[in-house]
Amino acid sequence: MKFRKFLAAGAGAAVAISLAACSGGGAGSSTDESASAGAGGGAAEGGTVGVAMPTETSERWIADGNAVKAGLEEAGFDVDLQYAADDIPTQQQQIDNMITNGVKALIVASIDGTTLSGQLEAAAAAGIPIIAYDRLINETENVDFYVSFDNFEVGVQQATSLLVGLGVLDKDGNETGEEGPFNIELFAGSPDDNNAGFFFNGAMSVLQPYLDSGVLEVPSGQTDFDTVATLRWLQETAQKRMEDILTSTYVGTDKKVDGVLSPYDGLSRGILNALEFTGGYPTTISEGMPIVTGQDAEVASVKLIQDDTQFSTIFKDTRKLADQSVTAAIAYLNGEEPEANNTTDYDNGVKVVPSYLLESDIVYADNIQELLIDSGYWTQEEIDAGVA
Ligand code: BGC
Repeated sequence: MKFRKFLAAGAGAAVAISLAACSGGGAGSSTDESASAGAGGGAAEGGTVGVAMPTETSERWIADGNAVKAGLEEAGFDVDLQYAADDIPTQQQQIDNMITNGVKALIVASIDGTTLSGQLEAAAAAGIPIIAYDRLINETENVDFYVSFDNFEVGVQQATSLLVGLGVLDKDGNETGEEGPFNIELFAGSPDDNNAGFFFNGAMSVLQPYLDSGVLEVPSGQTDFDTVATLRWLQETAQKRMEDILTSTYVGTDKKVDGVLSPYDGLSRGILNALEFTGGYPTTISEGMPIVTGQDAEVASVKLIQDDTQFSTIFKDTRKLADQSVTAAIAYLNGEEPEANNTTDYDNGVKVVPSYLLESDIVYADNIQELLIDSGYWTQEEIDAGVA
């Protein structure tokens, strides 16, 4: 656990607050000395920070919102946390309200990375620092910092796990000599989410050589990003596309699907439904369910991995991301620049946004315990139930 000192500018006076930021274990064990000592009646000394999250339909964003809120509150801030039900005008209005209400900083996970320019211009004019959370905000000068995971590497990990599942690579990433050919189908995320392209490009950087050499084939012929993208990351959209691919290309032929690149657990569940109900595949991989990847280590999907139905997911520890966003907000409120570890890769169309990128891990059935249970992310009971 690291202790940092910072100053929060509040109502013209600089107020010293100490923050215990724990890297890795969320904000749960942080302490806050002077905020409670001096507030005298509940209102936080640091002012209010606005936190705009995209949707509550995916559990990762609920975990993100709760962790950011807890971290900021422990640092002595009030928090205005809003979810926008994946509706762009709702998110715009929420951010407008936050600015009107005088927030000291904004932490924003956008729905569409290009639709917040007006809001962010107003925020910048009011001197409010803006931190893009997990998803980059594009086409604006007015984004100060970006906290995320190494999104290209997430795609590399997804494709690597697909190849491991097919037996082309071992878990150390070494080629086994297996030459296929294997039939795979490709899915990407929402085209208005800047991350989706990074995930897909990362994955294709691994898969393309095997497509070129004939170890992998895509029988549907659908390989370009625009065709395989899934607007708003909707499970039912992915399920429908998988059903269409199965009916047009596989059902009634002797072709079999060997694997599916899926960039998010919600999509994976839709794809698995289609494989089972339209494709007629058995529910377990050992009996013939194709290899399906994922992302986010959602509890329902971790259960599917434990049950041998989904092959892998990518664990992005939202507690660490929340901690980074709180650290960055505090740096700005202290008149400092947050520490970046990437100043080259995230060009938002107007400028390269200084970024802090975290690392992710591939989850397979045999490391659920180590990655997810031992770290306190999920309990065994939650995984067994498939709900948190
Ligand atoms: C996030 C992923 C998530 C996806 C769908 C992306 O921006 O980086 O972790 O799976 O959105 O919510």
